Amino acid sequence: MTLNTTPSTDVTDALETRITVRAFLDKAVPDDMLRAILQTAMRSPSGGNLQPWKIHVMRGKTLAEFKADAKVKTLSGQMEEPSHPAYPANLWEPHRSWRYKLGMDMYDKIGVARDDKIGRMMWLANNATFFDAPVGLIITGDKRLEMPQHMDIGILIQSIMLLARESGLHTAPQGWWRNWPSVTSHHLDIDKGHEVLVGMAIGYGDPEARVNDLRADRAELVEVSKFYD
Ligand SMILES: Cc1cc2nc3c(=O)[nH]c(=O)nc-3n(C[C@H](O)[C@H](O)[C@H](O)COP(=O)(O)O)c2cc1C
Repeated sequence: MTLNTTPSTDVTDALETRITVRAFLDKAVPDDMLRAILQTAMRSPSGGNLQPWKIHVMRGKTLAEFKADAKVKTLSGQMEEPSHPAYPANLWEPHRSWRYKLGMDMYDKIGVARDDKIGRMMWLANNATFFDAPVGLIITGDKRLEMPQHMDIGILIQSIMLLARESGLHTAPQGWWRNWPSVTSHHLDIDKGHEVLVGMAIGYGDPEARVNDLRADRAELVEVSKFYD
């Protein structure tokens, strides 16, 4: 399915046309558009109205230097202790299979063979350049935050992602940035005691890129819900 780049005019359309875009056009996002999206996203609810987030917005030179650093570190095979692991250890069913399927479908789309470990690693390294998006966000929060506040951050990023669709933009949420605390602390003014919770690429999605044709499957509602009368 080709990437839908038409600006959304309602929430349903924004939800249905939002996908994780992993290739962006070399086209700047107007500053007032970006600020309006983030300003409106501030209306996101949070338990107790804690608003437990700090949003670091990178463009231009800062973004270029940040990406260059991250890419070098990634490709040199360096690893750091992530602020949080991406998934629980020994992922179980059905989540394990969903994750596996996503990987297979994605490598299928971009033409990387299952056993091509190097090709897969090279592809994953595109995370380090925010998939060439002109805007990179790093969202941090205090290390003392608990699970409910992490949920609040999830709500915030969904708000940003849906509002982006209203402006004809696309996004990629990136847990990837939890892996590089040294890069984030070197380039950004991160509050003492804060850690990276998630990152996000924002920009104009590339409709020509095959990877953006990927539509990640979903479970049927009946598989994940129980209705009670
Ligand atoms: C919090 C969060 C973190 C994610 N981190 C990454 C990431 O680091 N790299 C990536 O390529 N996709 C990342 N994704 C995208 C998911 O793989 C994607 O949302 C899922 O496969 C469903 O596909 P869709 O977003 O295209 O509907 C992340 C998604 C979420 C919600």
